[in-house]
Amino acid sequence: MLYKDLLQQIVSKINGKIALSFSYQAEDVVALHLLSQCKIDSFEVFTLDTGKLFDECEKLHEETEKFFKLPIKRYFPKKEDVENLEKKLGTWGMRDNLENRHLCCHIRKVEPLECALKGKSAWVTGLRAAQSITRNELKIVEFDEKFNIFKINPLAFWSNEELFGYIKEHNLPLNPLYSKGFKSIGCKPCTRAVKEDEDIRAGRWWWENQEHKECGLHINEK
Ligand code: ADX
Ligand code: SF4
Repeated sequence: MLYKDLLQQIVSKINGKIALSFSYQAEDVVALHLLSQCKIDSFEVFTLDTGKLFDECEKLHEETEKFFKLPIKRYFPKKEDVENLEKKLGTWGMRDNLENRHLCCHIRKVEPLECALKGKSAWVTGLRAAQSITRNELKIVEFDEKFNIFKINPLAFWSNEELFGYIKEHNLPLNPLYSKGFKSIGCKPCTRAVKEDEDIRAGRWWWENQEHKECGLHINEK
């Protein structure tokens, strides 16, 4: 079965609003392309604007809106929380220890995600099992206990080759950071380019152990 047909079958069973989270990675562009071919009334595309995104992501934001002819809604962290966080951590304090890093991710990503998912029935992501050992158990459809919502991961079992092959085949917009050595894209202070033989997520929170490399969006437990 084609992936867009599989996704169509899944979204046809959802009663209520669907939202797709867009983080400027190749996976999100492909998931959006698949979802935009489904026959559904409407869906929301949103990004969690942490205030720490790369300029290249801003460029892709515009390009994607034009390509798909739809708006990407931004959800922001609470201003007061960010001010207090910056007072506490300074510019680079999220790198000092796991507690600081989790606090920053919680304020800039997790809380805004809670707002974004409010009132929605299903959440489409670009997660892939191949990205990390922390994602071994990933399913195409799962119920997210943390956010109390059906989560749809249409690319759960896609390989890198399939992902970038699809982008090329359909001439989809691609974040220019990939041609600068990035394999995974997050916030500026916590993401860097990697060597060719390095792991997909080696450039994310590179100072941490592999098993800690999650920001709290995809934990799926209360
Ligand atoms: S993270 O938890 O480590 O940051 P990752 O960058 O692998 O997640 O992205 C996995 C999926 O989470 C993306 O495909 C996207 O659906 C969602 N996501 C991650 N970061 C954001 C963001 N800033 N805005 C919107 N969605 C995001
Ligand atoms: Fe903060 Fe880094 Fe998490 Fe972004 S990835 S929210 S900058 S700790």
